[in-house]
Order: sequence, then structure tokens, then C-alpha cells
Amino acid sequence: MYPRLVIDLKKVKNNLDKTINMVKGSGCSLMIVTKGYCADMEIYKLLEASNIDYLADSRIQNLKKYGKTTKERVLLRLPMMSEAEEVVAHADLSLNSEIETIKELNKAAKTQNKKHKILQMIDLGDLREGIFFKDEDEIYNTVEEILKLTNIELFGLGVNLTCYGAVIPKKENLSLLVEIATKIEKRFNIKLQMLSGGNSSSVYLIGKNELPEGINNLRVGEAFLLGDETAYSQMLEEFHDDAFTLEAEIIELKEKQTVPIGETGVDAFGNKPVYEDLGIIKRAIIAVGRQDVDPDNLHPIDSKISILGASSDHLILNVNNTDKEYKVGDIVKFKLSYSSLLRATTSSAYVEKAYI
Ligand SMILES: Cc1ncc(COP(=O)(O)O)c(C=O)c1O
Repeated sequence: MYPRLVIDLKKVKNNLDKTINMVKGSGCSLMIVTKGYCADMEIYKLLEASNIDYLADSRIQNLKKYGKTTKERVLLRLPMMSEAEEVVAHADLSLNSEIETIKELNKAAKTQNKKHKILQMIDLGDLREGIFFKDEDEIYNTVEEILKLTNIELFGLGVNLTCYGAVIPKKENLSLLVEIATKIEKRFNIKLQMLSGGNSSSVYLIGKNELPEGINNLRVGEAFLLGDETAYSQMLEEFHDDAFTLEAEIIELKEKQTVPIGETGVDAFGNKPVYEDLGIIKRAIIAVGRQDVDPDNLHPIDSKISILGASSDHLILNVNNTDKEYKVGDIVKFKLSYSSLLRATTSSAYVEKAYI
């Protein structure tokens, strides 16, 4: 059945090995982030057999799927207070920034007779989660409160960059995390085990030997899956960008003009599209749409094809200048960027998976 996501497990394994060499070779422990492909269980088998340290995901449902695993499980998105019990049950460690939520985790951990580890998130300017780095009082007060909790272990600090503010990790900003950790350790006479220095946007620092001393963990999703470091969008050497490909079937092939006829309003998604007048061209409609992919982050493998537009269930392709004579029923193949991979795996009711 089409559309289908083809997962090349050999290429995934190659990317995994390269990520392990790069990150663990730098002296950091490694969290592999599994949300980008909805914690697929065939990929999980590769992770389980490898020497990564942690399976990390933003959704507790994905961590739950892992059941008995030899890896520690990490919840990346700040827990909802309402899911504290589930978090303690299915994650060994979680990233946190709100003391009220941490207290709920403590209650749940007491009930479940466990000690739950947390990383206190520090916001170094990207403006997503974490206590703002300049707010020293809030940082110290929070640590003081955490240390009173019997069933919570303050395992370390973490930072996330690039995801919201697009701030690039540098030696300068990551060093702030190390400085804050050192001050906390001195003030409270404790040892913080982990300083988690970010995601795939931090890996370029390894190559430049600029990851500050003290940062001893990275959480890597996209670089592992698609081989790109996300600070400057460079392909990492010897990684594959096509471990995942999408295949979809042509359901209509006709010659039409490229500019719609009549007064135009907004499209199915409320946007006012702009149409380029290319005259009469050969167009293919394929049976996959915005529900399953992000058309702006999907790349036809036949470089002569371009994507003209999309609705929820259709992609419209320009196949006017292709070398191959496409016909109805033919399969068109694509590489996927991160947002398309995320959607294709989330749309599992409609996008089949095939493993090679
Ligand atoms: C807190 C956190 N850490 C790490 C990651 C992994 O990011 P990336 O896929 O860019 O490596 C994400 C996003 O998935 C995240 O939210």
C-alpha cells in the first residue's frame, strides 16, 4: 500500500554508529532522541543493541512503548503536572523547570517507591524552557527546594538551544551553563552528574573542539536520523540523509495551466497562495498530503520534479520536464527533512512503513 515510508535500517545503523563515535568519542554520554520517528520499534532494536546511554523522547507514550529496556529513559518535554505518575513510572529522568511540577513528581515517586532523576533546565537565551540564566535567585531558590525533596535526585542541568529562538550553541553561551553548575555545586556542596549541552545543533562544536569542558551529555535526534547538524545545516561526513524515503502513487496526470481561473480567496489551510504562470504543463497529483508530510520539507529524488502545492490529501507535482515519462499508477520517491519525517510517522494510520 502507498504512501509508504521506506526505512533503510543499514543506513540508520550507519548513522547511529557515526553518532556514537562522534558524541561518545568526545567524552559525552549520548541520549538518542526517538520522537522524530515516533519511537519506531525496529529502530529501537538497533538502539537497544548499541552502547547509547539513554532513550529520550518528548512524549511519555513513546517511552511507555519501550517497556523493559536496558537503557535509561528520558522525558524531554517538561512534564505536565497531570502526568507526574506516568512520568515516574516510564521515565528514569526528566527535564524540568517548574518546582510545583517537580513536587508532583516527588509525590508520585514516593508512592511508587522510586527516586526520580531530574535535569533542571536553564534558558541561555533561546527563550523556550528553563529558568532564565540571569535569574540567579530563581535558580538557587529552585535548587534549594529540589534538595529538600526525598524522592527526587537533582542529576544535573540542561539547556536547549536553536529550537525556538534559533540561537546557535557556542563555547561562550554553553560555558554559562558550566559556570552556573559550578556555582550551584559550591553553594550547596553537591555534585551535579550531568550537564546536558543541547541537541543536534551542538554537535558541530565537537568537530571544532569547542564544546566547553564540563558539558558531558548531548541529546541527538535529527543529526542521527538525517545526518545534518542543525546549527548551520551542514551534512555530517559519512552520514546518510536518505535512511528514510517516502513513496507515493500518482493518481492523476494531466496537462493544465498553473494559474487558477476565477477570483481566488484562501486555500484549504487558510493561506493565500501565489501562483507562477508557467503556461500549460504536465502535472501529477499524488496520493499523499499535508496530513502526512510537510510539502516544504519534502524533496523529490527525481530532481526534475518540483512540488507545486498541496492540500490535506494531495500533492501536486510539476512533471513537465522529467526524463522519465510518468503515468498514472507510477510511484514517486522523496527524501524527507525533519518535519516531513515527523508527520509521516505520526500519520501511521495512512502511511505504511517498509523496512529494507
Ligand atoms: C529538549 C530537547 N532535546 C533534544 C531534542 C532533539 O533535537 P534534535 O532533533 O535537533 O537533535 C529535542 C527535540 O526533539 C528537544 O526538545
